[in-house]
Amino acid sequence: MDTMKLRLRFEQQFGNADGCSVWMAPGRINLIGEHTDYNGGFVFPGAVCQSITALIRTCSEPRVRLWAEDLGMGCEFDLDDAEGPDTVHFRYVYGVVRELRERGVDVKGFDAVYGGDVPLAAGMSSSAALECCFANALNELFVGGLDKMALALVGQATEHKYVGVKCGIMDQFVSMYGKAGSLVRLDCRSGEFVYYPWHPEGYRLVLVNSCVKHELVGSPYNDRRNSCERVAAAVGVETLRDCSWDMLEGVRKEISDEDYRRAKFVLGECDRVLAVSSALERGDYETVGKQMYLTHEGLSKDYEVSCEEIDFLVEEAVRCGVTGARIMGGGFGGCTINLVREEVYDRFVKEVQERYKERFGRECKVIPVVIGDGARRIG
Ligand code: GLA
Repeated sequence: MDTMKLRLRFEQQFGNADGCSVWMAPGRINLIGEHTDYNGGFVFPGAVCQSITALIRTCSEPRVRLWAEDLGMGCEFDLDDAEGPDTVHFRYVYGVVRELRERGVDVKGFDAVYGGDVPLAAGMSSSAALECCFANALNELFVGGLDKMALALVGQATEHKYVGVKCGIMDQFVSMYGKAGSLVRLDCRSGEFVYYPWHPEGYRLVLVNSCVKHELVGSPYNDRRNSCERVAAAVGVETLRDCSWDMLEGVRKEISDEDYRRAKFVLGECDRVLAVSSALERGDYETVGKQMYLTHEGLSKDYEVSCEEIDFLVEEAVRCGVTGARIMGGGFGGCTINLVREEVYDRFVKEVQERYKERFGRECKVIPVVIGDGARRIG
């Protein structure tokens, strides 16, 4: 987002922009490892160049004034307001303020104008970008001393308590820890992570946004998590990460078919992340791609978080000879992520757009992936 534009808006809303600092945090992609984070499994995300930028100036009054440039809307709340704004969008910032204060960060009043280019409701974690942008900035500005993982947890707690999405830690983690040119494999049980330089010679990663709104708030996302927790409880383990295939078969008769299918997907997905890790170490992108297609099949048929438009985009990828493709993120719309050989790329992006339009009478959007850095101060 153009900082100059935000600065002008800040002047317009709040008088002048003297004493502002500028902060940003990115959205993300995820190569593989979907719906594994809240099951204690592995994920394989990377931060992207699309981000949220915020201009922030602290003030002496005990209140927060916000202006969301992309929505053309503002909001104001007092620091000790126990309810918070009604508009969901502003509850992300409100929740971050509350969660930081609960952790002992002495957040005082501030004015902020923010906006970004992470497509909304596309499964690229615009909400984590917003949370991490503010969590990082307010922690610095009010000398909170929290580390990156604690700030990621502030973002996650905001989703749980102020927005009602029982998400895992992947999105906020990578928005904080992202590194240009590297994906990161995170073990969501131990918190250990490893950066994997991402330079897939001869291949490109590209997203295709179906522009079907992916909305996790009030969505069946929480139902999926509940299914997983029911199966883990039946097996007697804390999360499905600790459930073996045999253990799952052992409770087969005690759980519903639906819960069984969902758990089966999660167990398979944990195995696939590890298969992809070792394939990457060998530079074997064809195997990476095959695993991506398997993930899609599981997400579509067993986890049931795809939709007609997204399945069509993946079928188109197959038809064009794309190495791997799948729905990315929480699901229910949003983007596919595609691993595409150079020689196939032009044909794929051309035909997928034409054929999507033909089939659904609406546009899809191609978004080339550039892996960028995590949350930081930029001015
Ligand atoms: C959303 C959540 C994440 C994760 C993904 C699915 O993006 O915020 O925590 O569960 O869905 O992998």
